[in-house]
This record gives sequence, C-alpha cells and structure tokens, in this order.
Amino acid sequence: MQTLPFPNHRPPEYLKLENEPEFSAARHLALEMPQAVTSLSELGYDAETIKACPSEFGVSSAFRILSDEGLAAMRDICLKMYDNRNVSVGTGVNRLGSYVRGAGYRSQFMKDFCDSPELAEHISKIASVKLARHSVPAVACGVNYAPEDITKAVDTWHVDSVAFDIVMMLSDPTKFEGGEFQYFHGTKMEGQKLLGIDGEEGKDTDLPADRVITVPFPTGGYGFMQQGNMIFHRACRMKHKAERITVIPSFVVAQADAADATNSVNMAGWDDPGLKAELARHEAWRASARLEALVDKISLHDEGEALSAQIDAALAPLLKFRDRIGGA
Ligand SMILES: [Fe+2]
Repeated sequence: MQTLPFPNHRPPEYLKLENEPEFSAARHLALEMPQAVTSLSELGYDAETIKACPSEFGVSSAFRILSDEGLAAMRDICLKMYDNRNVSVGTGVNRLGSYVRGAGYRSQFMKDFCDSPELAEHISKIASVKLARHSVPAVACGVNYAPEDITKAVDTWHVDSVAFDIVMMLSDPTKFEGGEFQYFHGTKMEGQKLLGIDGEEGKDTDLPADRVITVPFPTGGYGFMQQGNMIFHRACRMKHKAERITVIPSFVVAQADAADATNSVNMAGWDDPGLKAELARHEAWRASARLEALVDKISLHDEGEALSAQIDAALAPLLKFRDRIGGA
C-alpha cells in the first residue's frame, strides 16, 4: 500500500461539487522538470540533520504542472469551492487567512489530480525519494486564497507540518501585486531564532532581505516543490485586493515504515472537521508498518532492554499523538 485510501465518507460541512470535468493526466497535466534545485546542505543544514531527512532535496524553482486545459478546469473548481472554504473558529491556531483543506472531499477532479500516479512519479524524481499522495486528506490537497483583509499576510513565516508539498499558482501572476512566495536562505532554526519564535508558529515580520529568496511563478499552472518542514517560508501581503489562488498538494514518503515528518501533534490543534480522525488513521498506518518491520528486525539475541527500545520506537509517534488528543 503506497498511501491510505480516502475515507469512504466525508465531513458533512464539505459540499461535493457537481458536474465536474473528469480528470485526465494526458489532457490536464503538462509536467516539466524544475530548472533549479536547492539542497538542504546549500541552506546550511549539517550532515546529521540531513541524514535524518528522507532526502537532501530542499526546494525547487517553479516548474510546469498543468496544461492550459488543466489550469482552466482547476481554477474554475477552486473558485467554486471558495464559498465552502474552511472556517477558523477563533482559536487563533489557524495561521492562514482564507483556505480550503480537504479539497479532495469536495472535488473528485482535485482528488484524482492529487492521486495521479504520473504526478507522484514526477515529484519523486525531483525529491529523490519515492513519494505518494499524503494519507491525511485535509492536507493532501489544500487551496489558499488571498485573505479578505489584505493588511494580513497570505501566510506568515513558518515551516509546514508535512515533509513534502507543492505550491502551485492558479491565478495569473501578472494580474496581482504583492503576494510573493518567499523562503529564508538558511536553516529553519536560524530563521526562527532571528524572529524569536519556535515550532511552526507563524510571524508576520521581515527577515534580512539579503537572506530571503522570492520564487517566481512564470504563469498559472506552474508550481514549485519543497521539503516543507525544513524550509522556512511565507506568502507576503497583497498590495491590492485581487485573485491569488494557490493549490498545495502534500505527499508522504511511500515506504510506510520510513521516518515520517508529518507533524500530527501540531495538526491536532487545527479545527478542521474530521482532522483528528484522519491523523489517527495516518499514525495507525505508519505504526502498524513499523511493527510489521519489527517482526523481521527482532533478533533472538536481543534482551529486554533492546526489545523494549525497539517496541517504544515503533509506537512512539502514535502514542505521542494519542497523548496530544488525550480524549479532550
Ligand atoms: Fe507552508
């Protein structure tokens, strides 16, 4: 199993779109390779940190993903989903201004796009590790819109709660000012220290301009890829009210017992419907794969301490998540 199937029902808050075009990789994708890739070591990460990551890949330049027909169809769907976007219920935990999570529940086209084996194979080549559509539907396909209040950043400085994602522009970048996507040319620890924050918390302030890279989108249908939990990034404020729609598909490392940077503990604080159950499924899936691997890994020479250490390691992320949700 490369990834978990979507659950066979959806949160009632999410409305299913009718009369959508049927997704076809041949007609709707126009995949190209990025012209430039920046590695984690180029950003200043040390060998030990990189070894703990699934790949040395850091961030790419924008590359073409959608055909003109694919772009027109997806933009139309995202405009329709705007009225059914997610609602932040005032807990302050949601950093984003205006967004859809779990687009695959609302749109079969979006689900089939994110699930497309052609896309997974393409981005696996870019990231140098086999990736699959993220097993948590909320983040498998997200959509960001410009906030209603343009004094707010589209998204403040942060790292992602998933390891790999694409940020794909659907709007015409010549038709809006501001809203640039930027990343910090350095490690996330350095960026967070400069801003005086930790964790994934966002902050809408400036970092030294000579350390900040703006990723240009040549036109709609282009996106770039990042190892998002290692790249400190933001989307700037819009200068005027205008359409700025980005689609953010996320991915997991396909090998289910491999280290997994999905930050379920952080995402448990988001208030999207069904999300805690989605995260529980994800953690149960990865823990069971680790336990299965343990059946072969355990040596008859292992004694109590070595055995309990292996069992603890297999269960740790699941139990950490369980403690986080704690029945609250
Ligand atoms: Fe992000």
